[in-house]
Amino acid sequence: MPQEIFEVHSPLQEGDRHILVCQNTSCREKQAAAVLAAFKATTLPASIKVYPSNCQGQCSIAATVRIVPDETWYCRVLPEDVSTLSAAIAKGEIIREKLNPRIHRYY
Ligand code: FES
Repeated sequence: MPQEIFEVHSPLQEGDRHILVCQNTSCREKQAAAVLAAFKATTLPASIKVYPSNCQGQCSIAATVRIVPDETWYCRVLPEDVSTLSAAIAKGEIIREKLNPRIHRYY
């Protein structure tokens, strides 16, 4: 089956942030479609936009949500995490418990 290619998110404007929700196979198996739907159903500031994305290379800890340009990466995101993550993203805060440990290393 051909792999679905998602439209690349639009270019970032000054001050914008994009929430990229992976919709590739492993993430879809871990409720990524519902995660995307939950983000899209959330009221966010106009400067924050939500987009589906292709694989972000973090398949084994799906579902993956990446915030750009911040480069904040969340892993194992479930639909029930979205309200907390959305509120944090809107405030420029981070939910440490959901950070991808491969990318965000704390010692
Ligand atoms: S399938 Fe989502 S990170 Fe690879």
